[in-house]
Amino acid sequence: MKNIVVLVSGGGTNLQRIIDTIKSNEIVNAQVSLVVADRDCYGLQRAENEGIKNKMIPRGKNFCELLEKEIPENTDLIVLAGFLSIMTQDFCQKFEGKIINIHPALLPKFGGKGMWGMHVHNAVIAAEEKTSGATVHFVTAGVDEGEIILQGKVDISENDTPESLAEKIHSVEYDIFPKAINIVLQNK
Ligand code: GRF
Repeated sequence: MKNIVVLVSGGGTNLQRIIDTIKSNEIVNAQVSLVVADRDCYGLQRAENEGIKNKMIPRGKNFCELLEKEIPENTDLIVLAGFLSIMTQDFCQKFEGKIINIHPALLPKFGGKGMWGMHVHNAVIAAEEKTSGATVHFVTAGVDEGEIILQGKVDISENDTPESLAEKIHSVEYDIFPKAINIVLQNK
């Protein structure tokens, strides 16, 4: 059984999707052993509702140091699912190849510091892109620069707004995230 730690900062619908696809065996032979949030958010409540151990470590300078102490020894994968703090170089090195993130655009486009949440979708619409999507990638010290595991695309129509695009991309995320988690876990 593979052990996954999930990090969240928000509503946690991707966390819920991970939990649900473990139950339905779309993610094979795994469990979420811990959920950590860097602020109060509904993601923590989702963990609580599912009987999953959860913890809030306030965001800030020593977040990664405190987090490291909480990561169980037997952890196979750390999944950033709508997580907003930037991981330190030390943390990224320590868990190299074991941390993945989901980003709501087709990296390497529309990534990097400041490109999160609606900022991404606003920028994509302003640039009059014809496609966008979601990317699951390994986390390295360079923000959104790690190796890409899986991407899913959506077409952007003339009527799309940042909000409608965000919604379309969320459904792509629900499709590719469990698949990417399987890919990474099976290579371990
Ligand atoms: C997702 O769009 C993800 O790509 C981004 O943050 C959002 C999280 O949504 N990193 P949720 O909290 O899983 O609903």
